[in-house]
Amino acid sequence: MRVLVTGGAGYIGSHTLVELLSAGHEVCVIDNHANSSPEALVRVAGIAGRDLGSHVLDIRDTAALAAVAQGFRPDAVIHFAGLKAVGEGEENPLAYYEVNVGGTLSLLRAMEAAGCGRIIFSSSATVYGMPQYLPYDEDHPLAPVSVYGRTKRQAEDILRDWAAARGRAGAPAAAILLRYFNPTGAHESGRIGEDPRGEPQNLMPYLAQVATGRRAALRIFGDDWPTPDGTGIRDYIHVVDLARAHVAALERAAQATGTEVYNIGTGRGVSVREMLAAFSRAAGRALPHEIAPRRPGDLAESRAACARAAEVLGWRAEYGLTEMVESLWRWQSANPDGYGG
Ligand code: NAD
Ligand code: WQD
Repeated sequence: MRVLVTGGAGYIGSHTLVELLSAGHEVCVIDNHANSSPEALVRVAGIAGRDLGSHVLDIRDTAALAAVAQGFRPDAVIHFAGLKAVGEGEENPLAYYEVNVGGTLSLLRAMEAAGCGRIIFSSSATVYGMPQYLPYDEDHPLAPVSVYGRTKRQAEDILRDWAAARGRAGAPAAAILLRYFNPTGAHESGRIGEDPRGEPQNLMPYLAQVATGRRAALRIFGDDWPTPDGTGIRDYIHVVDLARAHVAALERAAQATGTEVYNIGTGRGVSVREMLAAFSRAAGRALPHEIAPRRPGDLAESRAACARAAEVLGWRAEYGLTEMVESLWRWQSANPDGYGG
């Protein structure tokens, strides 16, 4: 298929490009590099052994986006582009609504101009909010507790309304909403990976920078949570498994109409202490850490029910914790300054 990929130079986008190219798809990337380096695309082409088209532009520039889409004539779009730092969203909500909600509207307008009715959207487990039960299934009520989470929920609503209206108008559309849990790890080559700007806000990139010596110590945000070891539990998913979920979703989008929602996780919970131990083993030494207060808005536990993706998409996660931490360490140790090094 011909696939337009917004935000393709980012962490999840770059890994997905490798899988798309390896599966024989033609890709065209849109990215303004607000949070990525063009070098990621050079490395993707090197890993896949294939060229890809790319355009540096902002998804909010509807006219430019429509021109690219009309030239490329995609069969489907994978929409990664967006802002994702939870704290930054609280400080600057308008930017988050502009890019994540306004950018999605702009993209749909450009898709209409190019006659494209299939989209796969990067949503997040964060749309669920406080768990009413665990694991979260796709029917769990949506009550996001952050600006970022609300922008994802609003974008989901827009996509659902758009797909329904197109269907009623006799121009069937498919919107596949993938709710990712906690992506981590890197491509096995160690050539591409997560490259956060500034101080990492998430556990895995922070741990990786402690291991290279760039950060002094991991702060564990609370050891008094109602979990077996007192630290927060998450459902970490290897980024290559996540990338392959997009290839499966693309095949599904070619046949489906309307909106479909899938959790993308492993279903297995890992605590901060377990992750610290696993990453220390991969890095070959004990990593400095200290107990710090709980982080505002944090959850004790998050875990996915993954049956729907397995049944309908035929996708399930193949990699475990060892592959996640070893690949992350391979990337971080070979590229201690990310793409800037
Ligand atoms: P990322 O920041 O690495 O990638 C996003 C990409 O979009 C970057 O390359 C950035 O430059 C680009 N971009 C941002 N604003 C843009 C704009 N206005 N126009 C064009 N390009 C723009 O993030 P990621 O971790 O790869 O996440 C990809 C998507 O998945 C995001 O939508 C994110 O919200 C979602 N998501 C991420 C996680 C996670 O933990 N990483 C979890 C759930 C959902
Ligand atoms: C994981 C665990 C922390 C950092 C966030 C966003 C969410 C999603 C993914 C996109 C928790 C603990 C963390 C640290 C720590 N992004 N921790 N010390 O909170 O599940 O989700 O990223 O959609 O929207 O909210 O992931 O990696 O920040 O935290 O102890 O320095 O690690 O308390 O238990 P989270 P995380």
